Amino acid sequence: MKNNKKTVIISLGGSLIVPEELDWKFVKNFKKLIEKQIEKGYKFVIITGGGKIARKYIAAAAKVDKINDEDRDWIGIHATRMNAHFIRTIFRKHAHPIINKDPHDFRDFLHFKREILVASGWKPGFSTDYDAVVLAKNLGVHQVINLSNIDFVYTKDPRKFKDAKKLENLSWKTYRAMVGNKWSPGMNAPFDPVASKLAEKLGLEVAILGGHKLKNFENYLEGKKFQGTVIK
Ligand code: UTP
Repeated sequence: MKNNKKTVIISLGGSLIVPEELDWKFVKNFKKLIEKQIEKGYKFVIITGGGKIARKYIAAAAKVDKINDEDRDWIGIHATRMNAHFIRTIFRKHAHPIINKDPHDFRDFLHFKREILVASGWKPGFSTDYDAVVLAKNLGVHQVINLSNIDFVYTKDPRKFKDAKKLENLSWKTYRAMVGNKWSPGMNAPFDPVASKLAEKLGLEVAILGGHKLKNFENYLEGKKFQGTVIK
């Protein structure tokens, strides 16, 4: 690690924090890795996704009453906030005490003194990938890591097509031609198409990495050989 106090934004997928139930073992290993990198001089902005917790509430609400898309999004946003508080709590020693809940309202967070800033979802119609890109813009960060249960961008859905091929390096132009321009809640794109449009405009580098392979995530951070897809 040459670049002292380098800040990286992590879009931490809800699928890792709450795949079915809360995965505290994942969080424990993630914490260990982040603290090791803090020792080496990194700072992190961690934006938490929603995960199963949101889907369970949405499914339950839909059984009781009619709910609309905005209701669904608000439940999703509150799940991201719950997860953000959880992550801030386990990083108490290193995390800025206030969670960023609006990536456009960044002034109080611009020069955060601690090593970690935790952020959550913002408002209906968006995703935490999008919030991550807006925060990157506002905090002047150029690198976003998308940690989820997707470990590569493939030519097609690998669960449906046996001949799907891994793609390791992609331009924004190619990636965006693959995923289109629209985002919808629960969609399977490795990185939100609307967030991608902004990321391309800003010239960001987004790495799509499988969150369960934490050694691999560390290799990426340390500039070593890693498995995943880099879009830039
Ligand atoms: P995400 O879809 O960003 O979380 O937010 P995630 O972890 O990457 O993906 P899941 O949770 O595994 O699907 C969860 C939901 O919260 C709402 C959306 O409905 C989104 O699907 N949300 C999130 C918003 O409406 N606005 C935001 O700014 C963020």
